[in-house]
Amino acid sequence: MPEQTDNQDLTDDEKSLIQEILSEDESNLTPYGESRRNFLKMAMLTSGGLMAFELSGAQGFFADSLTDSPAPGIIENILRVAFKVNGNKKSLDIDSRMTLLDALRERLQLTGSKKGCDHGQCGACTLLVDGRRVLSCLTLAASCEGKSITTIEGLADNAKLHPMQAAFVKHDGFQCGYCTPGQICSATALIEEAKRGELSYLSTDVRSKAGPLELSDEEIRERMSGNICRCGAYPNIVDAIKEVHSGKDVGQHWQFLHEGNNAFSVGNLMQKGGENAAI
Ligand code: FES
Ligand code: FES
Repeated sequence: MPEQTDNQDLTDDEKSLIQEILSEDESNLTPYGESRRNFLKMAMLTSGGLMAFELSGAQGFFADSLTDSPAPGIIENILRVAFKVNGNKKSLDIDSRMTLLDALRERLQLTGSKKGCDHGQCGACTLLVDGRRVLSCLTLAASCEGKSITTIEGLADNAKLHPMQAAFVKHDGFQCGYCTPGQICSATALIEEAKRGELSYLSTDVRSKAGPLELSDEEIRERMSGNICRCGAYPNIVDAIKEVHSGKDVGQHWQFLHEGNNAFSVGNLMQKGGENAAI
C-alpha cells in the first residue's frame, strides 16, 4: 500500500508551487532576512488556504445563515417565527439564538435600530414590542412570535414625522444621530408610560394608584437614563420630550448666531466685547 503523504490531494500545479517556495536556498540570509522570508512563505500558504476556503462549500454555511431559507440541517436550532414589523407580517426561519436586533438588521434590512454595545448598556437598539420599549439586543427574535414590533422606520406616517421625531428636529436633539432611533423609540414609549401612571425610581408615593403623570425634567432624565448619548445632546432631548409630553411649546435653549436680537447674537457679543475687553 503506497505511503500516505501530505501532498497526495494536491494538483500538480499546487505541488510545484509549494516545492518552489520550500526549496529556496536560505543559507545566505541574515537572521532578519530569514524570518522575513519564512513569514512571507507562511503568508502565501495562508492566503492559499483562504482561497481554497472560499472555493469550497464552507463559505455557503455563512451565506445561508443570512438568507430567509437556510438549507435545513446546516444551521442548528432552526425555527420559524412570525410577527408584525411596522404593520407588515413577516415570517423568518432563524437560529433560535438570534436576537431581535440581528433579525431586523441582517434579515429584514431594517437598519434604523442601532447596535451600540450589544450588551444592554447603551439603549441604541431600543424599539417597541407591543407598545413597550425593549432592548432588541437582549431580546430573542424567537420570543416575539405573534407580537407587533415598531422600529424607528415605522413611527412616521408616510411623509409626516411622528410628533417625537418632529420635536427632536425642532430642539436639535441629536448630533451624530447614532443614538437617536433608540432615544426616539424610548421617548415615545415613555409618554405612554406616563399616561398610564407607571412609576419610576423617583416616584415618592408608590401606594396610591396614579393617574396620568406630569413629568418633571428630572423624571424625564431618570426615565431616559437607559439611553446613552455620547454626543451629550441630553438638554435638547429633554426639551423635545417635555414638549410632546406637555403639549405646550418649549422654548429652544439655542439659537443660530445670526438669528434675532438676543444675548447670543453676533451684534450683542460684539457689543459686549466692546463694553468689556476682558470678555
Ligand atoms: Fe442594545 Fe446597546 S446595543 S443596549
Ligand atoms: Fe451622537 Fe447621541 S447624537 S450619540
